[in-house]
Amino acid sequence: MSIVGKSMETKVVVGFAGIGLMGSPMAKNILKAGYPLIVWNRTPSKYEEHVKMGAKPAATPKELARKSDVIICMLATPEATEDVVLGKGDYAGVGIVDGLKAGKIVVDMSTNMPDVVRRLAQAVRAKGAEFVDAPVIGSVKPATEGTLTILPSGKKDVVDKIMPILQTMGKKIWYIGEEVGLGCAMKLTMNLHLHIITGAFAEAIAFGTKAGLDPALIVEIWNNSIFKTYITETKGQKVLANDYSPAFLLELAAKDTRLAIDMARNIGATVPLGSLVEQLYNAAIIQGMGKLDYCALAALYERLNNTKISKAK
Ligand SMILES: NC(=O)c1ccc[n+]([C@@H]2O[C@H](COP(=O)([O-])OP(=O)(O)OC[C@H]3O[C@@H](n4cnc5c(N)ncnc54)[C@H](OP(=O)(O)O)[C@@H]3O)[C@@H](O)[C@H]2O)c1
Repeated sequence: MSIVGKSMETKVVVGFAGIGLMGSPMAKNILKAGYPLIVWNRTPSKYEEHVKMGAKPAATPKELARKSDVIICMLATPEATEDVVLGKGDYAGVGIVDGLKAGKIVVDMSTNMPDVVRRLAQAVRAKGAEFVDAPVIGSVKPATEGTLTILPSGKKDVVDKIMPILQTMGKKIWYIGEEVGLGCAMKLTMNLHLHIITGAFAEAIAFGTKAGLDPALIVEIWNNSIFKTYITETKGQKVLANDYSPAFLLELAAKDTRLAIDMARNIGATVPLGSLVEQLYNAAIIQGMGKLDYCALAALYERLNNTKISKAK
């Protein structure tokens, strides 16, 4: 079954693997746009709402691929994505590639390594199918509102074919290039910057608070000066409220920095600040903060400095 020419008369069937914090609202937006949706998740309870909304569950990634024209992955790590797509580990013989045939398209939207998505593309193309990496910028709120920024790379004609589906999840879609993996390289570039400024924010607010300054005033001045960033604006309020409920798990932020460091090693680049932030995230995980939002780096700095940033008593 080919996606070519299907969108007009027959709806393209979309398969979604990975109903997590991000995948759940992204899959709902595909459904709301009217696409027939098949869902698969390691933990089936997470797609109950999607099934109530009309999605059909698949028992395995292979079944998902067999029943869908376009198969989207939004999984936690490169290791999990390799297992699910290539049919390795727990998914031996029932991976996405095991259900593929010519004309289908696999789209990896998770934050992944360029080398890994190139391996996935090779295996997918060996089945006559196509592959696009399309990682996203934005967290649960834009994922829910359908306003993610999406960074697809792969053959232009294939990206054009899936564009209407990407547009159900994102508003700004930047085509990064023909070579699979460039989207992931762009995403890791964005997140290396994000995590370094998160570390800078946590260190500076703890430093200022220790000096006797009001942390709320520090955040207010940041946000009313040229120093305003997404972190000072959005995460600043969360940290002041001692609210570390996760939009993006700290353990996945640690994963992002690890991927950037691994990629730097592969390409012969040097990322000393990234290495430092990875160590900070690792320290926070050791302190039991892995399942909190990544801005809990500020809570780590509270402990390191024996000070209290949050306004909450
Ligand atoms: N959250 C954000 O703000 C954000 C923003 C941009 C990009 N991302 C990226 O998007 C991806 C998903 O993030 P998320 O925040 O949605 O994470 P999440 O809530 O932890 O969800 C992760 C998903 O991966 C699945 N999974 C994990 N390990 C698996 C394994 N070994 N085998 C099969 N499935 C496995 C989980 O299944 P279970 O439900 O069974 O655990 C779940 O569906 C990550 O690559 C992340 O870096 C996240």
